[in-house]
Amino acid sequence: MTDDVTYQNYLELDTLLSLQKPRTADSADMKSIVLSEQFFIIAHQASELWLRQIIADLEAVIDAFTTTDDTSNAEWIVDLLQRSAKLIEVLHTQLTALDRLPLGDFAMFRQLLGTASGAQSEQFQRLARLVGNAQQDGPLYESFTAWVTRSGHTVSGLARRGIDAGVHYRIIEALLDLGNGYWRWQVGHVSMLTKIMGSHSGTGGTSGADYLLSRCSLPFGELRELRSQAHVGLSVATS
Ligand code: HEM
Repeated sequence: MTDDVTYQNYLELDTLLSLQKPRTADSADMKSIVLSEQFFIIAHQASELWLRQIIADLEAVIDAFTTTDDTSNAEWIVDLLQRSAKLIEVLHTQLTALDRLPLGDFAMFRQLLGTASGAQSEQFQRLARLVGNAQQDGPLYESFTAWVTRSGHTVSGLARRGIDAGVHYRIIEALLDLGNGYWRWQVGHVSMLTKIMGSHSGTGGTSGADYLLSRCSLPFGELRELRSQAHVGLSVATS
């Protein structure tokens, strides 16, 4: 029986829309600050929702890499990786909206945040572990290379074959798009926050922009290195 399903109750909108609670006292002369703080809360909550989907999709990819030895799930893996890459782009676009957070309002409600900081985002930490960084591959890349090996290929061989590697090529492309999007999100976060807080330190106790810049990192280093090798020994004849 689905008669009593409505848009409102299916999405649990009463609960969802009751969760934006600015700490600024709501009064006529504080209206601008209350609206700005609501904007700040929604930007973070929406990001956490998208992070939930990205993490679930990437964990499904890792599971598929781990439990299959062939390409039976490979097109689904491509779909999930491409969706994750797209959703990381959404995260980045949402951040750019915060360029429209009025500086004076932010300065006013920021003191109400205490030591709360994005650095405490457990979902972001989980994503960062899954994806890895330039120094250390994460489970996403490790499960990919193990799957490639079990199915009788090598990553370098697939990279050399380029588009002729078919679905393997599309997986490599999707991983690189995901990694680039992740990096763009990190860099976009730093540029957005330097606009609103300059070199001021963060509520989480870090130096702010300098600290975050040092954490920006392009994952999947091996795939990038293999891309650079594709240029070795190639040249286009000129007339
Ligand atoms: C006006 C908006 C924002 C400002 C001024 C800001 C500022 C900062 C600062 C200064 C840090 C460094 C840690 C600290 O000392 O607090 C940080 C970390 C972080 N922020 Fe933001 N942020 C903003 C919006 C967002 C949004 C919308 C998200 C989305 C979830 C986010 C996610 C994060 C994450 C995940 C970290 C940790 C990054 C890492 O460990 O590499 N931030 N933020």
